[in-house]
Formats: sequence, C-alpha cells, structure tokens
Amino acid sequence: MADELNNTSRRAFLKGGAAAVVGTAAGAASAGTPDPLITEVQDWASFTGEGVDETPYGLPIEFESDVVRRNVPWLTADPISSINFTPIHALDGTITPQGCAFERHHSGAIELKKDDYRLMINGLVDQPLVFTYEDLERFPRENHVYFCECAANTGMEWAGAQLNGVQFTHGMIHNMEYSGISLRALLNEAGLGAAGDLADKWVYVEGADASSNGRSIPMEKALDDVLVAFKANGEALRKEHGYPVRLVVPGWEGNMWIKWLRRIEVTDAAVESREETSKYTDVMEDGTARKWTWEMDAKSVITSPSPQMPIKHGHGPLVISGLAWSGHGRITRVDVSKDGGKSWETARLGTTQGDSKALTRFYLDTDWQGEDWLLQARAMDETGYVQPTKDQLREVRGENSIYHNNCIQTWYLNAKGEAENVEVS
Ligand code: MTE
Ligand code: CO
Repeated sequence: MADELNNTSRRAFLKGGAAAVVGTAAGAASAGTPDPLITEVQDWASFTGEGVDETPYGLPIEFESDVVRRNVPWLTADPISSINFTPIHALDGTITPQGCAFERHHSGAIELKKDDYRLMINGLVDQPLVFTYEDLERFPRENHVYFCECAANTGMEWAGAQLNGVQFTHGMIHNMEYSGISLRALLNEAGLGAAGDLADKWVYVEGADASSNGRSIPMEKALDDVLVAFKANGEALRKEHGYPVRLVVPGWEGNMWIKWLRRIEVTDAAVESREETSKYTDVMEDGTARKWTWEMDAKSVITSPSPQMPIKHGHGPLVISGLAWSGHGRITRVDVSKDGGKSWETARLGTTQGDSKALTRFYLDTDWQGEDWLLQARAMDETGYVQPTKDQLREVRGENSIYHNNCIQTWYLNAKGEAENVEVS
C-alpha cells in the first residue's frame, strides 16, 4: 500500500507541467520570483488578533459567506410554507452544521420556549401523561447520528434534468448527531397494556405549529429506533429544526420527523392525515398512487466536482467526493463512473462504519487531464440493494411522481472543469 501511494505521487509529480505549475506559490518561488506571502511579514503576523471576548458564540469566518442555505424562489408560493437547501457542495465529512441544514416548514418556524413546552401522550394507553421539558430530561438518554431527507429531495428531476446545482437537486438532506430519549421509553411510561395486541397499532404524532404536520407511524417502528430529541450536534435544536423537541425517525422520510413535537396518540388505525394521503404518496407509471413509502431507499450523489464546484486547480490529481445514504441501514459500497454508467470504479468510504441510517462520505482519488466525463455515483446498502438508474425508476414510477426519487445522478464535466446537470439513457 505504501509503495502504491509513493508511485501515485511520483507519477503525479513526474507528469510535470500541469501538477507542478498548479502549485502557484511554490512554483513561482522555485522559478526565482519571490512570493511575498512567504518572504514578507504579513499583517496577521504583525498585529495581535481578536480577543476571546469578541465572539461569545462563533459564526463562520466571512470568507466562507457563500456556504449558506439557498432556496429556489419559484418552487413554492410563499416562504412560510417553503424549503431551502443544504449547501452540500461546499461541505465535507458527514455532519451537517445546524446553521446551514435545510429547513422545510408547512406554516413557518415557530418560537416555543422550554417553559411553555408540553408533550402529551394519550389514546390507547394505560395512563395518559403530559411531560414538561424537564420531565423529559429525566429519562435515560441516547446519542445517534442520522440523516433526515425530505421525501421531495430530487423531486424536480423526474421529467428531466432541471436544477443546475447539487445543493438544489440533493440538498434537502442533513445529518446530525441527536441526543434524546427513545419513544419506546415514553410509551412504556404511559403503559401500552390498554392497546392490546401491538402488531396492528399506530402512533399519531403532531407538532405545535399551525400546520401540526400530523403523521401516523406503525407501532413496530415507534418501539424500534424512534427518538424524542432535544439536542443536535451537541447543542439545543435550532428554532427552525423544532426547538425545543423534535421527533427523529431514522431512515424514514423527513416529513415524519415532527418538529415542535406536542402530542403522541396511540391509535388502532392510521389517521390518514393530509400529509400521508394527498401529499408524500407516490404516483406510479399507470397513474395510480402507492400507499405510503416511509423508508428512504439507498441513494448517492457526487458533491464535487458538480455544477457549483467546478475543478479550479487544473490537470492532475483530483479528488472526486460525494455522499451516500440508505434508510435501510449501512452503505457497503459506492461506485463512481466517468462514462455515464458504462464502467465503474469502486470509491473509498471516508468514514469507518458509523451509525446505520447516516450519511457516508466517499472519495475517488483519481487523475484528470481535461477529459470530458459523464460523472455518476451508485450506492449499495447492506440489504444488497443497488441504487437504480433514472430509466429503471421511471419504468415503475413514470415521470409524474414528486417524492422518493433516488435515481443515479449525472454531471457532465467539460474540458474546462465545469459541470452541468444532464441525463443519460
Ligand atoms: N414538523 C412540523 N411540526 N411542521 C412541519 O412543517 N415539516 C416536515 C418535518 N417535520 C414539518 C415538520 C418536513 S416535510 C421535513 S422534510 C422535515 O420536518 C424537515 O426538517 P428540518 O426543517 O429540520 O430540515
Ligand atoms: Co419534507
């Protein structure tokens, strides 16, 4: 392995021209032109920096001001019932900072103080209960990293390549470490004896916002890995992500992740609310609608290079990077194609086996000499499922769906290193 690495770097170096010239600063200095960034004492080394009391809570440095959530104004009529997108093209690793994690509200982000927070459990329970925020903190706590993907992520791409940026085609996703308590613990506290046979029971969960966003979750899932979470990435949830308490439904569509969680009702049937009938159901090829698709199937996308992340460093070594995830468990393999899916190379997974149902970072360490590429990524998960092509998905779903589009994405990379959203068939 060490030899292999040495060979790779020697090869890159010996190719000369491109690789050597690209390192401008070093290249210029060795060519005899002094580089003032090295030879001159700079301001930042001549004066002291900011004191520690200047920034009680830090924000990203101003030079990173373009790493922000963005929206597509024509997508929804009103910012109160709208979405914005995570700048996944500009992030690395797997954790999404809360400050740029996508938001989706049906009636705006509300402000709810911990002191005013109440969570009710009612319905088919032995003892209906109401918890305050402090009551919740007294239950045993767990920490898990999970992705949350809106069912509408990539939803504009069914009929053709449309939005020219991975932030817009795939940015309705975030991945955070949640601290919270298991929903199972709360349900057991209320007692499920009254519910009888749990196999056919449900919980109906709703939020405190005007939309309430009510959803029915089968009891089996409710008792499995669902969390009632109050911290994300170590700190309190941001207002827009459901402060002070949200539901985390690992691997399942984002719409079920109820924010500002206020009520959990144990029921003997699905409520069939708006959000699980007229919305978030899939139109199939024959025009009928499929009842409920809760789990998010395996999906991946190259985040760099991509339309918002052209190659700027010229020819030579290139790191192709992207994200993969599956609502069914762990990602076991990601392949990358440079020729629109004719041939594939297996990418390196950039994280040791983390939590299941979390984002996985992948890298393909390669070499680019200005070729035109049709770049694709294809994910596989631990169930053996392989991410489908757009054509394969359309055979079943047609072109009139909105939700649950997990097809393989193609970027056309040109000789200048610019990328564009395209389709291949
Ligand atoms: N919960 C409530 N109470 N109200 C909402 O509008 N939106 C849902 C879900 N939970 C919503 C909600 C949708 S569609 C998604 S995709 C996720 O929250 C988005 O979570 P985020 O805004 O933290 O990214
Ligand atoms: Co959503």
